[in-house]
Amino acid sequence: MKVLTPVLSLCIAFAIVSCSPHRKENEVKEPSLREAVKDKFLIGTALNTNQIWGKDTAAVKIVKEQFNSIVAENCMKSMYIQPVEGEFNFKDADKFVEFGEQNNMFITGHTLIWHSQAPDWFFRDDKGKDVSKEVLIERMRNHITTVVSRYKGRIKGWDVVNEAILDDGSWRDSKFYKIIGEDFIPLAFEFAHAADPEAELYYNDYNEWHAGKRDAIVKLVNSLKEKGLRIDGVGMQGHLGIDHPSLDEYRAAIDAYFSAGVEVLITELDVSALPSPRRDIGANIADTEAYRQEMNPYTTGLPDSISFAWNKRMGDLFTLFIDNSDKIGRVTLWGVTDGDSWKNDFPMPGRTDYPLLFDRRYKAKPIVKEIINKLKVKNEK
Ligand code: G3I
Repeated sequence: MKVLTPVLSLCIAFAIVSCSPHRKENEVKEPSLREAVKDKFLIGTALNTNQIWGKDTAAVKIVKEQFNSIVAENCMKSMYIQPVEGEFNFKDADKFVEFGEQNNMFITGHTLIWHSQAPDWFFRDDKGKDVSKEVLIERMRNHITTVVSRYKGRIKGWDVVNEAILDDGSWRDSKFYKIIGEDFIPLAFEFAHAADPEAELYYNDYNEWHAGKRDAIVKLVNSLKEKGLRIDGVGMQGHLGIDHPSLDEYRAAIDAYFSAGVEVLITELDVSALPSPRRDIGANIADTEAYRQEMNPYTTGLPDSISFAWNKRMGDLFTLFIDNSDKIGRVTLWGVTDGDSWKNDFPMPGRTDYPLLFDRRYKAKPIVKEIINKLKVKNEK
């Protein structure tokens, strides 16, 4: 009978141990993002309808494991919720809120008043002309009151007004602004607060680091407060590039909003890995461009150099957020996996971008572990 040499015995013993089902029990499980973040800030993601309805099971698994806060990417926008005057469609929104409650998540409502994705009827009379200021105010009141009241005490925070200010600090010339004037913003906050006095209320925007826009948002926050209206936070959407804006610009905006007496929320974070046709493409969904191949150079994966640069950028941003966690209440990614991202079709359709924390195979990118480690170090201080 062949005598087992000590080395061979050790190899067999190791093989047995490493394959044993019990090994899993002894394995030290890495904390998830939601476990590592502790009380620093909420960590969230936007959900699409496939995830809300549980069809994208792999993404839902990630959401439950990694995040403690959710926002609906699209289904709560006015064009979906009230497509026809007086006809409310709450099916997807109800399912979204149910998902959040079942998984003990902080639920954010996105978004009550936005120039984009608002149904045409909102601004038109039966002759196709612009409605009067009084009619539009009443339509705003009815929409906000109906939606916010339905989820009173369940949706904890609302993006009340989205993207009302331009990069230079001037008002966006939207139908809301044209017909009502700048008062549409305080009115929206007033109606939302009346419908749910406990809910947190936010103003949300992109390119939120531009000095002009930043200063205008601070002025808006001050004016709402002077009117005695509730505003709890400014949403910095965070649709960023690898090299723009600078961390100093971003930090200055975080400081400016916090100094205005509101919480800072990073509401729609993604970092595009692709070349941008224009430096400040922002996130105005109407600012689209025709497809150009040179703007879509990484269809089969990122070169190491870009992957490294993207990872460093996302890491630097999270270091900034963690170092400013006293000012930041939430960091929300605008989607679960790269395949879900709106950035694959903006500013031009049909691109392959890599802006989020989980890849197209639903695998956590290396940055996830780095973020968890950054959080662990911060928690140990
Ligand atoms: O669901 C329909 C589908 O049935 C139809 O076949 C398809 C044809 O185009 O359209 C689908 O709807 C699209 C929807 O996303 C769901 O995928 C809309 O066309 C498309 O316009 C919509 O884009 C969304 C965009 O807001 C406009 O609402 C993006 O997913 C969403 O990520 C983006 O998010 C916005 C934030 O709400 C506000 N901040 C900027 C951010 C980026 O624009």
